[in-house]
Order: sequence, then C-alpha cells, then structure tokens
Amino acid sequence: MDNRPVGIFDSGVGGMSAVRVLRGLLPGEDCIYFADTANVPYGTRDAEELCRLSVSAMGRLAERGVKAVLVACGTVSANCLEAMRACAGIPVEGVIEPAARAALAGSRTRRIGVLSTEATARSGAFTRAIRSLDPGAEVFACGNSRLVPLVERGLVSPELPEVAAAVAGALRPFEGTGIDTLILGCTHFPLLSEAFAAALGGSAALIDSGREGAQSFARLLRERDMLSGRRNGGALNCIVSGNAGAFAGAAGLFMPSAAGELRIEKA
Ligand code: DGL
Repeated sequence: MDNRPVGIFDSGVGGMSAVRVLRGLLPGEDCIYFADTANVPYGTRDAEELCRLSVSAMGRLAERGVKAVLVACGTVSANCLEAMRACAGIPVEGVIEPAARAALAGSRTRRIGVLSTEATARSGAFTRAIRSLDPGAEVFACGNSRLVPLVERGLVSPELPEVAAAVAGALRPFEGTGIDTLILGCTHFPLLSEAFAAALGGSAALIDSGREGAQSFARLLRERDMLSGRRNGGALNCIVSGNAGAFAGAAGLFMPSAAGELRIEKA
C-alpha cells in the first residue's frame, strides 16, 4: 500500500483522456496532473527539445512526491520514455505499447492505422511496438498537426465545420489502406472520438491511447502493491505552466463531472 499521489503528464488537456479513465478505475488515488501548456504543442518539436521539456516536467512531479508517473502523451511516450525512466527512480508508464497491444487484440485484418502527432510519426515508435508484437502486421502511420490546437481551444464537436473538415483531412491518408483499426496515438485525439466515429462510419475501430495507457498504469500499480489504502475520494490537482483559465475551460469540458473538484494552480 502506498498513499502518495500518482503523477500524470501531458503537454495540455489531452492527457485528461487518460485521467478520466484512471479516476474511474482507481477513485481512491490522489492525482497530480502536470500540463505544460506554456509549451504546447509538443508534436511539432524535435526529440532533443522534447526530452528537455519532459525531464523538467518529471522534476516538477517528483517535487510533489509522486509514487509513479503516467506519461499521458503519445509524443513524449514515443520520444522520451527511456529518458524519463532514467531520471525518475519510480515506475513510469507510457501509452505506446498498451495501445499497440489493444489494436492487435481487436484487429482481424492486422492492417492497423496510427494517427499521431508528427513527432510521434517521425519516431516510428508505434510501428516498432506493433511489429515487435506481431511481425506480420501492416502499419500505416501518419502525423497531423492541425487537431491538437483545436482540442486545446475546446473545439471537439463533429457539428463544427472546422472540426469535421480537420478530422476528414486527418483521415485522408488512410483511404484505400484497408485498415480495420485506427489507433488515436495522440491523447488529444480521443477527445474528438465522436467526430472520428462519424467520419469513419464504422469502417475502422478506434483505439484510445489515453484509455489504454491508464488501464496499463492501473495494472502496474496493482501488481506492485502501490495502490492507496482509500477506496474513493482521491483528489485531482492540476499544475499548468501556461494560462490556468484556458486549461480550466477545456479540461472541464472533457471531465464535466470533475469540473467542480478540479484544483488548478499555475506552475
Ligand atoms: N497529447 C500529446 C500526444 O499525445 C501531445 C500533443 C501535442 O502537444 O502536440 O502526443
């Protein structure tokens, strides 16, 4: 048993796709969420810069005495997981391998699409993870930089023309590939799930990388006997490096039930 809080990290509100699942699974855990909104988007940065930002984020979470960290960011998981593990001294889980496993478990054709940020696509991390689990799988990976800014502004409804157009554009590279499963490999993207489902019309199942990362992190805590002794009532404290008001608006939209209990402080 370990009553220290868990840490969750993303560049912005995207990691809330993991937090909402984690809090459903482990409602007794205190959570400290660090959103590096002063530096969002991460997906257009190079690996060296990403590692510098990620190691600094790890320092902020370590200062708060977290017992383990969920990197609820595909871009950081793809480019810096080992760097974060090396400096952490505590368990660190990412979203790549859990999402790869879920995609393979659900796919019949073994033709899998991965939509992520550009930095994640460049890293090749999803393709490597899927192929190491199933060398015969075909992977179609593509990066996109238009969607994250929309989500950060709270624009996610499929009824909004700019959302529908951006999602349709993001899916265009997958046309004709025959994929039956699409990994939303950036944790911002599951917040656009409705728009993706509408555009795909059932042609491919969606894998939510935030959800898969959260489930795997919960398993890790349980297996290592690191769960808190409480059954419920865990707090959710958010630390943001940028504008706290903008973060509160977007985060409240994605976790309406938690909006009242969200505590947000400026880093
Ligand atoms: N949510 C992050 C990811 O999963 C980062 C998006 C960004 O900041 O570009 O990749």
